[in-house]
Amino acid sequence: MVLLCAKDSDEKADHREELEMGLKILGADKVEKSRRLILRSTIKLWMIRAITSLLLWTCVVQLIALGELWAPRLLKGWPHCRDVSPAVEKSNAPPNFVPPPKRVYKNNGYLMVSCNGGLNQMRAAICDMAAVARHLNVTLIVPELDKTSFWADPSEFQDIFDVDHFITSLRDEVRILKELPPRLKKRVELGQFYSLPPISWSNISYYENQILPLVQKYKVVHFNRTDARLANNGLPPEIQKLRCQVNFNALRFTSRIEELGRRIFRILREKGPFLVLHLRYEMDMLAFSGCTHGCNSEEGEELTSMRYANSWWKEKVINSEMKRQDGLCPLTPEETALVLTALGIDHNIQIYIAAGEIYGGERRMASLLTAFPNLVKKETLLAPSELRYIQENSSQMAALDYLVALESDIFVPTYDGNMAKVAEGHRRFLGFKKTILLDRKLLVGLIDQYNSGSLSWDEFSSLVKEAHAYRMGIPKQRVVIPDKPKEEDYFYSNPQECLQLLDESLRSA
Ligand SMILES: *[C@@H]1O[C@H](CO)[C@@H](O)[C@H](O)[C@H]1NC(C)=O
Ligand SMILES: *[C@@H]1O[C@H](CO)[C@@H](O)[C@H](O)[C@H]1NC(C)=O
Ligand SMILES: *[C@@H]1O[C@H](CO)[C@@H](O)[C@H](O)[C@H]1NC(C)=O
Ligand SMILES: *[C@@H]1O[C@H](CO)[C@@H](O)[C@H](O)[C@H]1NC(C)=O
Repeated sequence: MVLLCAKDSDEKADHREELEMGLKILGADKVEKSRRLILRSTIKLWMIRAITSLLLWTCVVQLIALGELWAPRLLKGWPHCRDVSPAVEKSNAPPNFVPPPKRVYKNNGYLMVSCNGGLNQMRAAICDMAAVARHLNVTLIVPELDKTSFWADPSEFQDIFDVDHFITSLRDEVRILKELPPRLKKRVELGQFYSLPPISWSNISYYENQILPLVQKYKVVHFNRTDARLANNGLPPEIQKLRCQVNFNALRFTSRIEELGRRIFRILREKGPFLVLHLRYEMDMLAFSGCTHGCNSEEGEELTSMRYANSWWKEKVINSEMKRQDGLCPLTPEETALVLTALGIDHNIQIYIAAGEIYGGERRMASLLTAFPNLVKKETLLAPSELRYIQENSSQMAALDYLVALESDIFVPTYDGNMAKVAEGHRRFLGFKKTILLDRKLLVGLIDQYNSGSLSWDEFSSLVKEAHAYRMGIPKQRVVIPDKPKEEDYFYSNPQECLQLLDESLRSA
């Protein structure tokens, strides 16, 4: 297996910039927020960001000092090529830092996976599949991304993620290849492999008892669906931790996406704190959920016919108002403006809209813009030429929004889709950064009462604040409901097994 590590002086410069930015963020936060938790979280974020750079030793020393057992495992996998530009290497990185040694194991076969869904659903699936491959001692082939989903994004894994980093940083756990060895490729071309969708929410015994024998028999097994194929709970801790290691360390976006992300944070940071609003008020969301509250009749018809025209979408007849009352609709831009104001969010804060095109356009954004005049989005912060390469690629645009969401002071998703959930968990990992988890069912009731005049503004505002006091992405236990995996808390929105370091430091603080 050839491991490539594309490191050059440019990338070194990137790391320096990242480090400088981390320091700047730390400084700004110190002034703004006195809470130790926040400061701690910023330190943690900064540590992770700066890991390949000069502060490696500081990190290691701190982590060891905290007596944590697994976090250093997270850190060990960063790529490092001693044979590339050694002068640059010497000046920037601590000596003796080498990539993790390859894990030596008896290979049981090869696992190919075709992910399905949008970017963040696939992100979680990639973590699951790497953990399964590790556990079964098989070789994982770099996952294939969905090109036929609604988003029809042509991007390959390496267009979104740093594939060499993915392979290298996990090599002490599982062997990953960009493609099958030629001999096996032939077999696959001849149809001599086994393709199946694994059963959803399976525990590890399923993979051991059902999948491993197939791998041994066919040598190559192909998973043709990957969403939620591994249980949230009841898995050995080493599997949960590996899911995190992949998610928080091995999956890094390409340098093009990371660079655009850094440009956006720099622009926003210069002007102060910022909130990322994942305003999931996009046409596809509304058409498929059937949520038409606030739309005019033509819009309602347009959304409904889009749903009826889509053959893979089974649910056709939807009662929008009932769905909304059950808390199953994304908040509208108008509802969002009311809620953010009621929560006491500063009117002057910069709000970065992480979303594609908002349905209804300027007309629907008017009240949000009136309440929060500093609304920005990637298209207003970056020049068209900067976005040129990723613009048509919805997954790459989503990757950029994900990066900005991680970095923000406050993250507010208006719907609990995959982006919202995975970013929520990632922000917990980065030190329980503030994520406001809106209770939509309760909110739509309060909003209707306020709009009809049965609640005063002050009553409305205090009820909204009270209901969200503990919905800020703080440490908590995942809700476990045996036999009802759909209703449990999602592993990736609260990967509690991976947050011990922070938990312990909180307890002692
Ligand atoms: C995987 O390899 C390890 C040794 O590296 C061994 O202990 C374990 O039993 C193997 N598991 C499977 C499923 O082959
Ligand atoms: C996955 O494979 C199974 C079994 O070969 C097949 O029935 C199913 O249609 C495939 N699904 C997809 C999404 O390709
Ligand atoms: C795994 O799932 C199977 C099938 O649902 C169940 O019978 C088995 O008890 C589970 N095993 C563990 C270790 O939870
Ligand atoms: C989408 O991304 C791919 C890979 O980065 C790139 O080759 C292609 O030009 C992009 N498409 C557009 C329309 O920008």
